[in-house]
Amino acid sequence: MIKVAILGFGNVARHLYAAFSGTGEVEIVQIYNRSLGTIPLEFKTDFTSQLSEIKESDVYIIAIPDDDIKGFSEKLPFHNRLVVHTSGSVDIQILSEKNRKGVFYPLQTFSKDRDIDFINIPICVEASNTSDLKTLQKIAGCISEKTVEIISEDRRKLHLAAVFINNFTNHLYHISEDIVSENHLDFDLLKPLIIETANKIKSLSPSESQTGPAKRKDKKTIEKHLDLLNNDWYKDIYKIITKSIQQAHGKKL
Ligand SMILES: NC(=O)c1ccc[n+]([C@@H]2O[C@H](COP(=O)([O-])OP(=O)(O)OC[C@H]3O[C@@H](n4cnc5c(N)ncnc54)[C@H](OP(=O)(O)O)[C@@H]3O)[C@@H](O)[C@H]2O)c1
Repeated sequence: MIKVAILGFGNVARHLYAAFSGTGEVEIVQIYNRSLGTIPLEFKTDFTSQLSEIKESDVYIIAIPDDDIKGFSEKLPFHNRLVVHTSGSVDIQILSEKNRKGVFYPLQTFSKDRDIDFINIPICVEASNTSDLKTLQKIAGCISEKTVEIISEDRRKLHLAAVFINNFTNHLYHISEDIVSENHLDFDLLKPLIIETANKIKSLSPSESQTGPAKRKDKKTIEKHLDLLNNDWYKDIYKIITKSIQQAHGKKL
């Protein structure tokens, strides 16, 4: 059994606990969190809010916000153990020199109250020595069929691409929801379109999948859409994305 301690109790920490708990090869020996509120019943492991009480483990997974990883890793009261973070954009080197460093980045979007199957989630691992890399590959292999070794520089670029795919796309859903709800229309009407847009990518490239007034250069439709928008932010977003689509497809505005 590989002993793992999870440091943090947010979105990623909870999902990692659930995923590892289903394996016979990894034991979550403890979850540390700086505050201990009510712990949901499904978390059947030891909890602590004291850094000094963190149990000895083979791997310590820090799953807290990116900007806090550096300072937190420096506060850990032990030396020469394998400490990893789960961020897509934070360099491995930011971790404290006191311990051996690694990264265990699951390339997916996680929200606390949404179940997710890890089996198809790529886990990007990195470590400062071969033996630690093997340990990370082993625990990743217990929960996912896709483990990839990726250095910090490439992981940052992957994360940038992921932000466009997930965070920005989701924000566009939000804008669409605002537009339909302002006009007393049902957002559910758009859900089949969301699903088909995502499904298309399984067989077509993004460039082949593109449709719409921007690509067709339907100027009148574009102008009508801009007239309908009463939010200046949304107008700017519409214009910039239209321009980007037209540039990508070789047409001038
Ligand atoms: N969410 C995703 O979709 C996703 C996907 C892949 C990777 N990641 C990466 O995973 C990491 C965690 O993300 P998340 O979404 O799980 O974050 P999150 O839900 O916001 O994590 C909150 C957790 O961090 C703790 N925390 C906050 N500031 C802290 C500090 N200064 N010191 C110690 N603990 C602190 C919180 O403690 P309290 O409960 O006391 O507030 C809570 O346990 C990030 O590096 C993120 O980039 C996230």
